[in-house]
Amino acid sequence: MLSFDTNGDFKDNYKFLIGSILPRPIAVVSTLNEDGSNNVAPFSFFTAVSAKPMIVAFSPMIKSSNGELKDTPRNILREKEFVVNFVTEETLDKINMTSTELPYGEDEFKYAGLTPLESEVVKARRIKESPIHFECIFRDRLSYGDDPGCGQIITGEVKKIHVNEDIYEGGRINTDLFKPVGRGAGNDWILCTDRIQRERLMGAQIQK
Ligand SMILES: Cc1cc2nc3c(=O)[nH]c(=O)nc-3n(C[C@H](O)[C@H](O)[C@H](O)COP(=O)(O)O)c2cc1C
Repeated sequence: MLSFDTNGDFKDNYKFLIGSILPRPIAVVSTLNEDGSNNVAPFSFFTAVSAKPMIVAFSPMIKSSNGELKDTPRNILREKEFVVNFVTEETLDKINMTSTELPYGEDEFKYAGLTPLESEVVKARRIKESPIHFECIFRDRLSYGDDPGCGQIITGEVKKIHVNEDIYEGGRINTDLFKPVGRGAGNDWILCTDRIQRERLMGAQIQK
């Protein structure tokens, strides 16, 4: 077994995180810039936290280029709201474009060729090309520092869910129709086409 300390460069730790925590789901977070234009970016440090209240969390790290907050948290801390959109095989290339660090205020929907859709609860727009939208009200911020590589947890309470009827069957989202994509190490993206099923065994069944 090789062993490593974590007190060196943050980039080394980062490589262990993205190489170990696999596959990672991706939140495509849309927010409003100060001038009302649209900001959007993918975040794979993302998870579900609570079903009711319905809470999701993601982690935008401090920019390694200049030590500043990314535009997404900057907008969320001011507007107190955001939308989580989802990436599919079809929209992967456009969503990848939204990870470009553009000057603050440049409309990233326009840049990536995505269509803005008005939301019902929040002012941030949804991505029409995404088959699922979570409209979120900002709940908490837990910061782990202000230096490049430091992360922060941002949570939001999902107040409204929108699901495209084309992927919704029998009261649930159909994975084959949704065609979600996850994040891997480096520049890897992971398709969800190879899956296996196992029945979840209860304690009594295991003892038999
Ligand atoms: C698939 C993917 C996942 C990403 N996940 C994260 C993440 O979890 N945290 C993070 O800080 N940056 C992540 N990034 C980089 C951000 O998307 C990128 O820094 C973006 O420019 C931030 O935009 P903003 O300044 O508009 O918030 C990811 C990029 C890609 C392509």
